[in-house]
This record gives sequence, C-alpha cells and structure tokens, in this order.
Amino acid sequence: MESSSLVPHNDPTLMFTNAGMNQFKDVFTGKEKRDYKRATTSQKCVRAGGKHNDLENVGYTARHHTFFEMLGNFSFGDYFKNDAIAFAWELVTKNFGLSPEKLLVTVHATDEEAAGIWRKVTGFSDEKIIRINSDDNFWRMGDTGPCGPCTEIFYDHGDHIWGGPPGSPEEDGDRFIEIWNNVFMQYEQIDADTRIDLPAQSVDTGMGLERIAATLMGSNSNYDIDIFQAIMTHSADLTGVSFKGDQAPSHKVIADHLRAASFLMADGVMPSNEGRGYVLRRIMRRGMRHAHLLGASEPLMYKLFPTLLSKMGEAYPELGRAGALITETLRSEEERFRVTLERGLKMLDEETARLSGGQNFPGDVAFKLYDTFGFPLDLTQDALKAKNIAVDTAGFDACMEEQKKAARAAWSGSGDTAFGKQWYDFAEKNRDD
Ligand code: GLY
Repeated sequence: MESSSLVPHNDPTLMFTNAGMNQFKDVFTGKEKRDYKRATTSQKCVRAGGKHNDLENVGYTARHHTFFEMLGNFSFGDYFKNDAIAFAWELVTKNFGLSPEKLLVTVHATDEEAAGIWRKVTGFSDEKIIRINSDDNFWRMGDTGPCGPCTEIFYDHGDHIWGGPPGSPEEDGDRFIEIWNNVFMQYEQIDADTRIDLPAQSVDTGMGLERIAATLMGSNSNYDIDIFQAIMTHSADLTGVSFKGDQAPSHKVIADHLRAASFLMADGVMPSNEGRGYVLRRIMRRGMRHAHLLGASEPLMYKLFPTLLSKMGEAYPELGRAGALITETLRSEEERFRVTLERGLKMLDEETARLSGGQNFPGDVAFKLYDTFGFPLDLTQDALKAKNIAVDTAGFDACMEEQKKAARAAWSGSGDTAFGKQWYDFAEKNRDD
C-alpha cells in the first residue's frame, strides 16, 4: 500500500501520522474490512508531539527525527508471532545480510512465547533475548487505540561508540540501535482504565528506513545516508561552516526540520498559531534559529529545498507539486522571523547571564520571548539545552493563562460577549507573529 498522508483522516485522536499502522487502525479494530489480510508500506511519519515525540532529541543523537520513513509489514488476523519473528529474522540476516553476532532482541517481560520463538529461530541464549518490563516493549499508537506487546531487534554498532544494551543504564547511547519493532496487536485501549481484546490477533511492524539504511552502510548515524549528506553539504556550502565539527547539530537540525516542514506543507499543513500549523511553525523556527547560529545572514532553509526535492521528489511527487508553495512559505516565514530572532536571542543571553548555578530560566521571560519575539517555548528550551538550563514551564503556562484571561475579559467588556469571543478566537488563530 502507498503511504498515507501525514494528516490522519478520520482520526481525531492523532495530530500527525506517527506510525505505519495508523492507516490500518480500523482494520485492526475490526471496524473496517479489506479484501487483503497482509500489507507492506513505507509510511511518512512525523513524531513531534503527543505520545511519540522525538523533537527534542533531533540533532543531538544519531538516530532521531521529526520526519522519517517507516517500513512496515502488517497482518490482519493472518500470520502472528511465529511467522512474524521468522520473517523478521530472514529479512535482516538473509536479505539484508546483517551478521547475527551483531544482533540482539528484546521481548516484553510477560511474553515467554515470543522469547521461546526467538530462541528456536536464532539459537540465541537468554543473554541476547532481553526481557523488558516497561512500555518500551508494549507499543501503543496513542492514549487510545490498538496496542500490544512488542519485540525489538537491536544492532550493536561496536564498543567504540558509547552506549549499553537495552535495559541497561547506558541504553540511550548510540551504540545499540533499535532497527525494527514487531508489535503483536492484541488489544484496544478504549480509555485510561479499559483495555479490550481485538477481534483478531494481528501484526504491525515499524523499521525506520533511515536507521536500516545507515546500518547497511556500516554507520550508526542516520545523518550519514545520502539524503542528509546532500542537504548538509548544501547548508555547509551556503554558510561556510563544516557539518562535521562542533556545529554538526545545527546542520542536522536544519536538514531534519527542512524535511518535516516540507513534507507537512506538501500534505496541506500551513504555519499558523494553533494545532498542526503551530507545530509546523515551531519546527520551522527551530531550524531557522540553527541557521542563525551558523551565521546565515539571510533566509537559508528555502534555498535547501531543491536539494531535498532532488533526493525525495521521485518517491514523493507531492513534494514537487507543492514545491512553489513550500519554497515561498519557508522564505517568507524565515524573513519575518529573522526580524525578531536576533533581539530575542539577545534577551535570552542577558537573562541567562543573570542566572546562578542550578537556577531555572524564568517562565515570565520565556513567555515574553514567546509573546513579543515569536519564540515557541521549545525553541527557548532548545537554545538553553547546550547550557543545561531548564525553563520554569509552570511559570510560562501561568503567564499564558493570565494573558488569555485578560484578552477574554477585554472582549467580553465590549457589550456583545458572543461576538467578542468569536473575534478573540479569530484574532488568536491568525495572530501575525
Ligand atoms: N507501530 C510500530 C512502531 O511504531 O514501532
């Protein structure tokens, strides 16, 4: 099947498509019947909010993205654990040719059946079949929806890279990288307290294309694959700053966020101050701050779009169809944001210099940066990350609430409350910052 749009249709529980299984959600729950029982896809995904959010890791790890392509195979009441595990092993070791010595797997601590199948299929001892008793091995698409225990395949990139096996204190390092998740879809989460059995036992899998491509190239970094190398080479050419040194994270953030922003716009999302549009604006502005950090003296991201298009336009023709809109939106957003970016960063630096060790960045200043200079909260957080300073988010939220209350009161005082409320909502939605 083709990838579905990044904007999930018919699913109000989801902001963006975050997994290959989203388009099959109703098939898993039995609400929808199709004339096939197996499928495979390469699905566009965005993980920048909600249950699966990788935004803050982007640029700082070798393996996280806001936008990525997820490869998956699906069974709707057809094959289950035995075949799914055997298929997965066959693909990674025979077709992809990965060495079994480099691989290890995890299963949910309660899933002895999966552990037994792995033992039989791989001949692994229990040391390489790691039991995990946490949500890491119980996959859910969101607070509600289909879910089930999962088993993950990890690749060991070698002891020259920091990191430990899954379940160890060093598991977040980049040495042992999860390349494939196989989910045994058995349940549906109806609400926080209710989980029911699905009508059939099914399979959903997710393998990040960027991760497996990098692994097959012998690298642990997704940013070594050709798409990212081409974009980062271009951003290095335009800024005169190498993408290999200290400023590598900025190039990575720009390349990642260019992909996310472009693909979101190609699927009809436009920057705005609420909902999906605000997540898009936040992603764009983070990228733009990093362009500024690289010393770009004029808008940068729109100039990189042709490189992205040359690498991904064939597989995703929607990028080319929306090319003019994407380019112009990136250019005008960056032009506008640059007007306040520099002044906002100056304020951020001054305020940071006032802090003494261990202090949080004040919420009211973060709010002023948001309100006056158009700094989304996560942009401020990203800017402070290198200095290890956290923002007082409760203080930020309190200022936001206060401002909304004041604005509502001003409108309701005008005489026609209902009319005023509508205009307030309209103005808030279309605020030009
Ligand atoms: N649905 C499987 C995954 O996202 O890992």
